[in-house]
Amino acid sequence: MKGVGVVPTRRELALIDHPEPVLAGDYQIKVKTLEVGVCGTDREICTFAYGRPPAGDEYLLLGHECLGEVVETGAKVSGLKAGDLVVPSVRRPCPEPTCRPCREGRQDFCRTWDFTERGINQRHGFMTEYFVEEQSYLTPVPASLRELAVMAEPLTIAEKGMTQAWQVQKRLTWEHPNTDGLGRGHGLNAVVLGAGPIGLLGAMKLRLEGFKVFVYSRSPKPNFKADIAESIGAKYISSKEVTPEQLAQKVGNIDLVYEAVGEGHVSFDLMRVLGINGIYIFTGIPAEKGPIPVFADNLMRNITLKNQAIVGTVNASPDSFAEAIHDLGEFQKRWPNAVKALITGRHTIDAHRELLTGRATGIKNVIRFG
Ligand code: BGC
Ligand code: ZN
Repeated sequence: MKGVGVVPTRRELALIDHPEPVLAGDYQIKVKTLEVGVCGTDREICTFAYGRPPAGDEYLLLGHECLGEVVETGAKVSGLKAGDLVVPSVRRPCPEPTCRPCREGRQDFCRTWDFTERGINQRHGFMTEYFVEEQSYLTPVPASLRELAVMAEPLTIAEKGMTQAWQVQKRLTWEHPNTDGLGRGHGLNAVVLGAGPIGLLGAMKLRLEGFKVFVYSRSPKPNFKADIAESIGAKYISSKEVTPEQLAQKVGNIDLVYEAVGEGHVSFDLMRVLGINGIYIFTGIPAEKGPIPVFADNLMRNITLKNQAIVGTVNASPDSFAEAIHDLGEFQKRWPNAVKALITGRHTIDAHRELLTGRATGIKNVIRFG
């Protein structure tokens, strides 16, 4: 069957003829790929800065944001049958018996860093016609989310980020969680840094939680990302027109920052205006560029004097995947047009080279299989 992969030793992106997988265990499921999202990580792997084929293979099949349809189930699979839609997760546990997070199904917190990742790190990805996966790594998707569920994986980053944020903010014991039905974030201000797919999905999640949301991104208005942000009730502000200090003046206390720009300099510059008792959530994975100047003393003073917390979020537990599917359903109810508009292109496999190595365009581009 056909797949899209990289051959790092030859620095090549190629269409690959990959053997069709077969079930090899009672809890396994064979899935027909329907859609695969293209993201910055995939594009980075195509520069050969990142990504590693499985042991013994020359190539790595790409793709970690996927929606598929069950075609065959192992003897002991229950609750999923042919025709059901599923989304696979990315990380797989390390083999170390003493790695407690991995042993408890929380490889997103793996302590040995010997975890693997489908489509990224030592495991083939989903940019191919079929794949086989253990049931425990698949999340069921209702048929009503057929057109959106390819975005579940990037949304899990926000789901896990918010779960962690609320755990950390439990320290603010006087804040009363969600008693009025307006959301735990009601009365709090969030700034989303960046208006790509991670940023806009994060903004939707924050709006759902009741936050007042400000999307802070480069391009001045009008632009279609700003339109999407404003259609979900967020305010869009261009960093070309408004400095972080001016932003903080407009917002008031910045209770939460959701970084979705993947760029160190901009991210630490915004950290200077994080508010009192605020939390800063990092999602980006920038390529290393050497030292960059930051206002280290100012940051450090603020972190101490303002009780600030900084957390990173890499996806994700099965719970985060289930929450992402649930919340995509909520987004669909509240903002059907905005959430649909995040997918700016659906392409055939023939477009893979342009999507992976050409100029980045739109918001979320998807390759359709089948
Ligand atoms: C994926 C994560 C992965 C990370 C780094 C991201 O694009 O969403 O699952 O861990 O890349 O490899
Ligand atoms: Zn990704």
